[in-house]
Amino acid sequence: RKRVVAFISGGGSNMLALAKACEAPDFPAEIAAVISDKPDAGGLARAEALGIPTHVFARKSYGSKAEHEAAILAALAEIRPDLLCLAGYMRLLSADFIRPHDGRILNIHPSLLPLFPGLHTHQRAIDAGVRVHGCTVHFVNEGMDEGAIIAQAVVPVDPQDDAVTLAGRVLTAEHRLYAHALRLVATGAVRLDDAGRVLTAGAQRSDDPA
Ligand code: GAR
Repeated sequence: RKRVVAFISGGGSNMLALAKACEAPDFPAEIAAVISDKPDAGGLARAEALGIPTHVFARKSYGSKAEHEAAILAALAEIRPDLLCLAGYMRLLSADFIRPHDGRILNIHPSLLPLFPGLHTHQRAIDAGVRVHGCTVHFVNEGMDEGAIIAQAVVPVDPQDDAVTLAGRVLTAEHRLYAHALRLVATGAVRLDDAGRVLTAGAQRSDDPA
């Protein structure tokens, strides 16, 4: 089983969904630890209730972004995870952080990327008048919400939706999608190639030389 560290900043419902998926005996991953940048993240208590070790790295305890990330990297060197799953972790990772873990960091984002990167995705979807919305799990690169896409799920936008009702529908889809995407990566069915593109096991890209 692949060892996963989940990164959270908030309620941690996606982390919890991954932890629940990992309880299935045939699931190819387990949550080795949870890391939060917020001491008061609700997900910390939820992880502890499941017996998952938690580590808090409050940004304000460090003088710079580089020092904050270095502290987290040092913890990861001890934990030695196979994969990192960002689950509502509201910080951009620097190139120095990503490099040693490139192709092994996943993020879930509440929109159908490349539409609506960044914040307030549900209100922006409503304002744009789109009739479908959803969520994306992707490999993390230095850009914001722009690494190669692993999996997506679509939900309808109802005419009476507001950002809260739409967010709830998307969040339910997120919980299923993240477990699905983690399974794909943990089994090796999907991986990131050297060009930063997703490769599916057994499939040959049409633009690859034969
Ligand atoms: C989720 O909707 C996740 O997709 C989003 O934050 C929420 C966290 O909820 N992430 C982002 O917006 C990242 N750019 P959770 O803490 O209950 O999993």
